[in-house]
Amino acid sequence: MDLSWSAALSAQEGRKLAGELFEETFGYQPLDVWSAPGRVNVIGEHVDYNGGPCLPIALPHRAFIAYAPREDRLLRLVSPQTREAVDELDLDKVAPRGCEGEVIGWASYLSGVAWALEKAGYGPIRGFDAALYSCVPRGGGLSSSAALECAMAVAIDEAEDLGLAGPLSAPSDKGRAILVECARRAENEIAGANTGGLDQTASLRCEEGHALALDCRDMSVEHIPFDLESQGLALLVIDTRAAHSLADGQYGQRRADCEEAARLLGVEQLVEVEDLQGASEALEDERLRKRMRHVVSEIARTRALIDLLKEGPLEGSRVQVVGALMNDSHDSLRDDYEVSCTELDVAVDAARGAGAYGARMTGGGFGGSAIALVDRERVEETAQAVARAFADHELGEPAFIVAVPSAPAGKL
Ligand code: GLA
Repeated sequence: MDLSWSAALSAQEGRKLAGELFEETFGYQPLDVWSAPGRVNVIGEHVDYNGGPCLPIALPHRAFIAYAPREDRLLRLVSPQTREAVDELDLDKVAPRGCEGEVIGWASYLSGVAWALEKAGYGPIRGFDAALYSCVPRGGGLSSSAALECAMAVAIDEAEDLGLAGPLSAPSDKGRAILVECARRAENEIAGANTGGLDQTASLRCEEGHALALDCRDMSVEHIPFDLESQGLALLVIDTRAAHSLADGQYGQRRADCEEAARLLGVEQLVEVEDLQGASEALEDERLRKRMRHVVSEIARTRALIDLLKEGPLEGSRVQVVGALMNDSHDSLRDDYEVSCTELDVAVDAARGAGAYGARMTGGGFGGSAIALVDRERVEETAQAVARAFADHELGEPAFIVAVPSAPAGKL
């Protein structure tokens, strides 16, 4: 079968395409081009807003933004999809979702970052012209929106001389944590998706060749070498191309369930639950019990996987253990958290059937992508097996990526 691979733009191509779109649209040259990656989360799903640990890597797929500040407060935004109708907004009028001045669609991510930086005391920010060119698959559960926010954040940071991000050769951890918060506020308040900080942290704070161990209790990070290639392994991403949205009710409902479970158990966040058995007995409501069980067990799996990676390269039986943790993660997301869907389950089952060490959905769920840990030489074969399973189930054609831990947001 012919497979569909989602190619990443090189830094050079991305800069060129965003720059050309800028010039064609606005008739002058941008100040520069900044970019930020999408991500996959290796493990630690739906735990960020419960204070748990996550383990994302940055993808080679990035959103590029050609940018120039203006002397007024106007924002003019263009992307290849909106070439004919440039979005124009007044930065003074940008307002949270549900209020007069709310911004709908992709412009909310971009204008939201400027709004959030001003709210955090980094204003006033000049208006700007910006052209976006992204190769992060949209709606693929690979943080395409966080990539926009984070590219915007580093562009404004440098153009307005805020001094937060630092250069890619010496990124500032503290400054980037502030940018993460602003990008997250843009998504929560202006775009109206009440997500945790995983995606923005991955995009701004990951490192090439490393996975990011993120502790969501205090958003502290640790970079752990994650060079699968040298161990003869690969992380295959299966983009099911099944539509998903985080601004719809399901994500918010899961969050509300977790908050309710925490309240009933008398803890601030579910990360504080130490006795899973006791907590299960204390929760009478079956749905809340299942949600809590996923979160608490996923936190334990994530800690175990992080410890394993810290011990050294992924070799021998350790690969099997990592695979088993990934499998258990998926099963828990499917059965207890109930955020999987047919496409994700078919992808995961087919990958496992083709000999993957482990496979799981990644990101928010209800569509989006799955990942599979496979031997390098079995990448093509696994992808073929998944594509065949999709055809057998009469599902749309999936797309594939081999995830290589890549550079964070900045000027490539
Ligand atoms: C989405 C959200 C993240 C996180 C994941 C699930 O990607 O944006 O904050 O909650 O879902 O782990």
